Amino acid sequence: MFVKDLHATAEALVAGRKGLLAADETVSTLSRRLVARGIEPTPDSRRSYREMLFSTPRIGDYISGVILHEETIRQRSSAGIAFPKLLGQLGMLAGIKVDRGANPLAGSSGEHITDGLDGLRDRLKEYAAMGARFAKWRAVIVVSETRPTPLCLRDNAHALGRYAAICQEQGLVPIVEAEIMTDGTHTIERCEEVTGAVLRQVFAALLDRKVLLEGMVLKPNMVVPGSMSPQAVSSQAIAAATLRCLRRFVPAAVPGVAFLSGGQDPFEATVHLNAIAQQSGATPWQLTFSFGRALQDEALRAWGGWPEHVGAGQLAFLHRARCVSSAAAGSYSAAMEDQSAVA
Ligand code: 13P
Repeated sequence: MFVKDLHATAEALVAGRKGLLAADETVSTLSRRLVARGIEPTPDSRRSYREMLFSTPRIGDYISGVILHEETIRQRSSAGIAFPKLLGQLGMLAGIKVDRGANPLAGSSGEHITDGLDGLRDRLKEYAAMGARFAKWRAVIVVSETRPTPLCLRDNAHALGRYAAICQEQGLVPIVEAEIMTDGTHTIERCEEVTGAVLRQVFAALLDRKVLLEGMVLKPNMVVPGSMSPQAVSSQAIAAATLRCLRRFVPAAVPGVAFLSGGQDPFEATVHLNAIAQQSGATPWQLTFSFGRALQDEALRAWGGWPEHVGAGQLAFLHRARCVSSAAAGSYSAAMEDQSAVA
């Protein structure tokens, strides 16, 4: 170990138009989504939901790896197979969310710092023994006229740097996620400015700790206006701003950039990823997806907690994964929305 393995795993996560399924919602977040669909949130309903997604026939054609929650990595499928093993059998790598969530940042009002460094080394050893090959840590950045503060940028970059270094020490590929929240009225220009400032500090923190850039994956937001901004922007403008930002601040040694969906609806996230891929030309990094809600929303609705609707949920999931994978290659078209996933 480890340099060659880290590099190979990172490349495998972003190769061949495949991307990541983020299925690492906390117990409370997933429970809220289940309740909204009339499903009682229990360890078993969360297990059934995730088993429905993971065991979708042919999903490994589009998904390279799945980010699991700690609850799920310890669970077994209905046939008694541990989930990391099941994913391996289906051609996907298992990952694990290792942060302990974003908490108020002392010294700054309304900002957050992601916790979870204490004991991380020991937890990673355990997850690796359970079959995890990569990990995820998410920093959350709020935008307003006065935010993010330099303190928030520095502390979150520092935590991401320490997390990534410990992951690589333990042979796991770190997914480095810094999400600029869309809440607010900010313009796309402001989002670009903040995204650039975050990426600049994050890579400085990674390099300070000698993180092997070839053995990581960056998980950024797309550059978009705030969700309450009156500004109307085209997919092309989103793609141009996103690519400009990445080219300026993401070193060429990074194998892959896997976007989060950040509350965009499934169609919107697909269209934006497609525009980015179409405009990108040759880039040093693979561009792909690491979507949570945008990959899952339609599947959760179609399944609705009914055992007899597992097939419908899987079909909805396969369809979206296929569209998003095409978008990562810039070959998606709205006509694909009308085609069955089986076609
Ligand atoms: P969304 O794609 O729903 O933003 O989730 C991605 C993720 O992993 C957030 O941490």
